[in-house]
Amino acid sequence: MQIVKTIGELRPIVQKWRREGLSVGLVPTMGYLHEGHKSLILRAVSENDRVVVSDFVNPTQFGVNEDLSTYPRDLERDAAVCEEAGAALIFHPEPEEMYFPDNCTFVDMDSLTKGLCGKTRPTHFRGVCTVVSKLFHIVTPDRAYFGQKDAQQLAVIRRMVRDLNFGITIVGCPIVREEDGLAMSSRNAYLNEGERKAALILHKSLMLGEGMLKAGERDAAKVREAILGNLGTEPLARADYVELVDAETLEPVEKVERPILAAIAVYIGKTRLIDNFTFAAEK
Ligand code: PAJ
Repeated sequence: MQIVKTIGELRPIVQKWRREGLSVGLVPTMGYLHEGHKSLILRAVSENDRVVVSDFVNPTQFGVNEDLSTYPRDLERDAAVCEEAGAALIFHPEPEEMYFPDNCTFVDMDSLTKGLCGKTRPTHFRGVCTVVSKLFHIVTPDRAYFGQKDAQQLAVIRRMVRDLNFGITIVGCPIVREEDGLAMSSRNAYLNEGERKAALILHKSLMLGEGMLKAGERDAAKVREAILGNLGTEPLARADYVELVDAETLEPVEKVERPILAAIAVYIGKTRLIDNFTFAAEK
């Protein structure tokens, strides 16, 4: 497995693979890899001849008061995870390699990015769309892999690829959880022992909501209130949002008739965690 830091090194490698008729999968990440990331890499390896993992903490998707400077980083460990999963190459650029000092071009979206995480992180998806577009142009993959963990991000990327004719197949992969149910996240590293226990409230509250839907409840407001109420029983938790939205358009729903996404963002102490589930009522 190779680790390359520049676009100039990466391009000829991928071009050579292409000349040999090999298919290429891309797994974009910000590093500090865990089993969730690894599941994406393993899926990519099973569906492509060569897999590139990008490992880049993208500054443009962090707000001014967010955790860009403290975001955990560990390239050595990341390399071991990628190697074990069978990736062919890690792309690990410095910010200066990805952005010119006078960069003034961004990829943005009118809908899908305003609600959910976009409410409190208004420039986040512009940063995500921009960096993912750049990675698509640099790596030119056949397929790219994203986790359902970041459900809004996945919907946004699918829409961007459709609207801008990228011609890349987007593969969504299921959420990987710790044994006790907490969705794996690089940001879980911020939690102290008490917060780690308290963080279980996210999955528990979602399961409560999912149970109501499975039992036949179709009133979105009732499910939302129940999830919020359950989150409120944990003193260390403070809900940022709880929303039931159309799984494709991300518009809020009143009645659960089409496939929906139930998404939450919750502060546990200072750490903001997200989780979700999708639900489709049987016809
Ligand atoms: P990052 O948070 O590192 O996540 C990289 C990919 O791993 C995303 O597609 C995310 O949904 C997926 N992932 C994270 N935790 C997961 C879990 N528990 N189960 C399944 N998949 C999981 O998302 C980003 O980085 C960035 O926004 C990026 C797309 C790389 C653009 O900078």
